Amino acid sequence: MPKPRPSQVLVIGAGIAGLTLALRLAATSQVTVLAKARLTEGSSLYAQGGVAAVLDAKKDSLSSHVEDTLNAGAGLCDEDTVRFVVEHGPEAIHWLIDEGVPFTKVNHDEATYHLTREGGHSHRRVIHAADETGRAIENTLESQVRQHPNIRLLEHHIAIDLITRHKTGLDGENRCLGAYVLDKEKDRVEVFAADFTVLATGGASKVYLYTSNPDTSTGDGVAIAWRAGCRVANMEFVQFHPTCLYHPHAKSFLISEAVRGEGGKLTLPDGSSFMENHDSRAELAPRDIVARAIDYEMKKHGLDHVLLDISHKSPEFINEHFPHIYKVCLHLGYDITREPIPVVPAAHYTCGGVITDHRGRTDLAALYSIGECAHTGLHGANRLASNSLLECVVFAQSAAEDIDQRQDPSSISVSALPPWDESRVTDPDEEVVVSHNWDELRRFMWDYVGIVRTDKRLERALHRAHLLQAEIREFYTNFRVSNDLIELRNLVMVAELIIRSAQARKESRGLHYTRDYPTTRPGVPENTVMIPDNFAASVIEAA
Ligand code: FAD
Ligand code: SIN
Repeated sequence: MPKPRPSQVLVIGAGIAGLTLALRLAATSQVTVLAKARLTEGSSLYAQGGVAAVLDAKKDSLSSHVEDTLNAGAGLCDEDTVRFVVEHGPEAIHWLIDEGVPFTKVNHDEATYHLTREGGHSHRRVIHAADETGRAIENTLESQVRQHPNIRLLEHHIAIDLITRHKTGLDGENRCLGAYVLDKEKDRVEVFAADFTVLATGGASKVYLYTSNPDTSTGDGVAIAWRAGCRVANMEFVQFHPTCLYHPHAKSFLISEAVRGEGGKLTLPDGSSFMENHDSRAELAPRDIVARAIDYEMKKHGLDHVLLDISHKSPEFINEHFPHIYKVCLHLGYDITREPIPVVPAAHYTCGGVITDHRGRTDLAALYSIGECAHTGLHGANRLASNSLLECVVFAQSAAEDIDQRQDPSSISVSALPPWDESRVTDPDEEVVVSHNWDELRRFMWDYVGIVRTDKRLERALHRAHLLQAEIREFYTNFRVSNDLIELRNLVMVAELIIRSAQARKESRGLHYTRDYPTTRPGVPENTVMIPDNFAASVIEAA
């Protein structure tokens, strides 16, 4: 039986949120970081456009960034949170620069960073590293964490569930004591004890058949927190990115919104533009509007895709600003300096998540949630482009400060935590059931809970989700856990939360569009808050 592994802070996830928090805390705490795949694999690595923040105080202002964020969020952003994030934006960027992130400069001028523009922003305020911003940040943070003596990095370790006082039969205030984790290489479940545990597991877009996200985005943090008794909010707001490359071998490769920000035009196959028929901001409308417009035009004309054209810009400009997109498209047979490329929308970002306050605290004492798996109130009904990486860095910083100041470590001895019980399980005899259920889930979520929804489709989807849940429960109870089973169990849980949240919203707002209630309800809108049966009791200042 493996011994429990103690650490002061257990960070589940090694994207920009998790690594930032680890670095911010490591001066004072022993930190363990888990990644279920290679360390850097996750959405952060693939972020293209950049990070939004007010860096040009002459042309831009904090109030303008706040206003753009609120406008995109369609009435559901928490204004205090928006101000909190926007005001901490410049400091977050300066921290990244100090860590060594090589953001793109204007004409290689040593002093000035290039700022690009994206949909919904009224100014140029997106700092970037060409079109591979996420890779530049993630690689920089990776090299820092790998050198830090107080940070232990464990790749290929997938967290299964949290260990709490109540689950272990201890009385007193419920509290997170650590997690059960599958070491995928040794194929055994270990106990990780921690004073504080941080969920930084990213989004849930893999619940859809077509997604811009890597395989890690299976909603683990949301499902894990929900099972431990935390509330979850606004799961119906799934952001579909308007422009992913339409190609059988491209796995929904993202074509950054910055391409439209720098003048790219959307057209039908006959070359006619259509965005101005949908919104006066045309290609620079927020992405919910652009994604719905593309969906509408594709359905109206019976198309598999629309086209995105930046070829009117010089090859030098395209190569300087979009070297990665240029290279990948060329490899797949499209020269973007000469021709338009076929694009379609795909699931991209999970606006909802585990409810947290400004310190990243959740409903369960000693449990934090940061990054895409959290619901902070920043995004409301639709995230403004490039606000996610900003949120990751700002909340990682505030959660680190909060943990640093706390004087209430867990008083449980590590050896008191119960080991993982495998006494009644056997090896699975039919792995095919898991892969079949994965495919079925992702397809019906795409067909029934996609860009355009109806009551009937949602009802159908919920029915299917319940059937799958029953099957997975049986599998989970009887067989030894594997990576795919853990992820499937989480995805089905998250699918149910998305569907039930969508059913609860009897209007269309932001990213949630339903034919049965096509207008936005007047009055003050409310978040869709889901409360688990084992609600952990609120210890947080709700956003
Ligand atoms: P991630 O970066 O997704 O990392 C999640 C981590 O958690 C991974 O290390 C994973 O292994 C780990 N993990 C997950 N579950 C478990 C588990 N059970 N056990 C252990 N480890 C686990 N946003 C912007 O602001 N600007 C952009 O330009 C931008 N471009 C994007 C382009 C693409 C193609 C994509 C997919 C997203 C983009 N986004 C962008 C969104 C942004 O990248 C993500 O929201 C953000 O990176 C999420 O960071 P994170 O740290 O929360 O999670
Ligand atoms: C993009 O580059 O279009 C992605 C930006 C984002 O998701 O914020």
